[in-house]
Amino acid sequence: MKVTKAVIPAAGLGTRVLPATKSMPKEMLTIVDKPAIQYIVEEAVNSGITDILIITNRGKGIIEDHFDRSPELEQRLLETGKKDVYEQVVSISRLANFYFIRQKETRGLGHAVSCARSFVGNEPFAVLYGDDVIIGEDPACGQLIRAYERFGKAVVGIKSVPEDAISKYSSLKVEHLEDNIYKCTDMVEKPKTKEEVLSTYSILGRCVLTPDIFDILDKTPPGAGGEIQLTDAMRTLAQTVNMTGVDFTGKRYDMGDKLGILQATVEVALKNPTLGEAFETYLKEIVSEL
Ligand code: UTP
Repeated sequence: MKVTKAVIPAAGLGTRVLPATKSMPKEMLTIVDKPAIQYIVEEAVNSGITDILIITNRGKGIIEDHFDRSPELEQRLLETGKKDVYEQVVSISRLANFYFIRQKETRGLGHAVSCARSFVGNEPFAVLYGDDVIIGEDPACGQLIRAYERFGKAVVGIKSVPEDAISKYSSLKVEHLEDNIYKCTDMVEKPKTKEEVLSTYSILGRCVLTPDIFDILDKTPPGAGGEIQLTDAMRTLAQTVNMTGVDFTGKRYDMGDKLGILQATVEVALKNPTLGEAFETYLKEIVSEL
């Protein structure tokens, strides 16, 4: 079955980026000239996704506004001859069919995904974590969808992370199948001891799930940090029917982390067709003074 639906959980509290995220959702933090979540939506659309459900909560209304039309602004841009910006602004609302639902309590990523049940129905669906921006030629979500179509199993996007950082991530038990494809048979969220570490491979920001995940999520008790963890539910899938791991190409930026935001800003700005050259000159000047 073709994957055409995506879920973007964006209802977290963003405590690692306070005070910036006190009233501004971290998913709306800017990378050069677009909010982080727009990069994620574009990645999904470039992967063949047509319908996107964004999980929000109180105070995240500006995410809905961003993907809506803005008649007054559009009118003004047309009247002042700013046709290029007008096209850019209008095209955002046409990227996909957008749906929104509120996660009424911040009970974890697993709980956020369970809010997507009626949107998803009986279809496989992609999950793109709202604070993980991945930039690359071949959209990461599309790489996972291809693996789903080929192997018929739920898929996780994986990358090897430094050994001393694994306790902040999930850790996966994987067997290499071919090229960048792995079979995943077990996983643990935020391993507390060395014995719990299964490998340095971790899930980074993307997965393609099958609807059986919802019954599993309903039975998943709170895990690390007292939250209902998506990893704990996926663990059941990995242990019973196995999952496919794709060591995706593309650079991932953690928009839930201050350093990650700075890295995204610098690297995306350097590649920007209008700003890149001037920014590079500026950066070189700064660096030479360090
Ligand atoms: P994180 O755990 O990175 O988000 O979740 P957080 O809770 O905002 O992180 P802190 O407070 O800085 O540590 C990954 C993604 O899941 C969403 C977040 O918005 C983020 O995009 N999420 C997390 C939810 O939608 N609901 C939740 O209850 C938790």
